Amino acid sequence: MMELKALIFPWLLVDIKLFVFFVVLLNVNLSVSRSLPPDEPINIAIMLPRYPLPSTRGSKPWLVAGRHYPYHLQMVVPAMRIALEKVKNTTLVVPNNISLIVDDTECWLNTAQFAAIDMMYIHKVMAFFGPVCEYALAPVGRFSTRWNLPLITAGGQASGYDDFDQYKLITNLKPPHRKLAHFVAALWKIYEWKRGVIVFHDGDAHIKDEVFMAGGVYDMLEKASGGGYGLNLTFQPFNEFDYSDERYVELLERDVTPYTRGEYSNRYVLSDRLLSIKPS
Ligand SMILES: *[C@@H]1O[C@H](CO)[C@@H](O)[C@H](O)[C@H]1NC(C)=O
Ligand SMILES: *[C@@H]1O[C@H](CO)[C@@H](O)[C@H](O)[C@H]1NC(C)=O
Ligand SMILES: *[C@@H]1O[C@H](CO)[C@@H](O)[C@H](O)[C@H]1NC(C)=O
Repeated sequence: MMELKALIFPWLLVDIKLFVFFVVLLNVNLSVSRSLPPDEPINIAIMLPRYPLPSTRGSKPWLVAGRHYPYHLQMVVPAMRIALEKVKNTTLVVPNNISLIVDDTECWLNTAQFAAIDMMYIHKVMAFFGPVCEYALAPVGRFSTRWNLPLITAGGQASGYDDFDQYKLITNLKPPHRKLAHFVAALWKIYEWKRGVIVFHDGDAHIKDEVFMAGGVYDMLEKASGGGYGLNLTFQPFNEFDYSDERYVELLERDVTPYTRGEYSNRYVLSDRLLSIKPS
């Protein structure tokens, strides 16, 4: 848990600084390119999930309760307000009233697409911040192309977003998974590795960040192996919230432990530790 926070927090800071930067940039551009009448308000849509995310959808289990993402509304909206205040304090001030129109996407495609339509036709927004969740972003990204409105997000990393015709007005603040895949492929080549297993969490129905990340890397290495790397590459999904997940334990025992080196590779230590936390 601590490591997770340590990983997420620097990203959050980077994102917020970039948000501030983009707010400034956006307002300058809008006031120049559209010659907005000074009494016309500038509405900016913020579409992110509120914390906590619902753990059931209808009667169906959906997400493990308490899942935490670095882009919940409660974290980003205060930062956006500070950003706006900074913009208003600078010489870049536009006379127009700037409002943030906030809506909860629930990280869900359906909610996000209806919210986007309200944002456009009721609030007449001029830009979107978010959605970030990969599935929720897809329809809003396509609308933004159609409506010619900029969309800024810390998501959109899945390889589907490489389709620039569909999503040409999305600006990503994080690198696409394609970049990670290039890095892993290069590493593979340097060390002349021959056998690989891509292990990833696959338990949430509507947020598949890990699947998209693993998929991007897998696809690229597969392509690379077609190109003569001679890789033996397989993949193994498991549920990281379920310690009794047999697939994970078996994978470690069968494919990882016997072939790896180091302190934790001892077959005994590993299987004892994992099996001891299985419910009896
Ligand atoms: C901004 O909003 C306030 C409060 O709604 C209003 O009094 C003011 O006239 C608006 N300013 C402009 C420039 O539209
Ligand atoms: C904006 O300016 C006011 C007045 O000078 C100041 O109190 C406030 O802290 C400034 N806000 C930011 C975010 O810099
Ligand atoms: C890939 O590796 C696995 C595990 O080491 C082995 O069972 C399988 O036969 C290998 N496949 C190929 C095509 O070499």
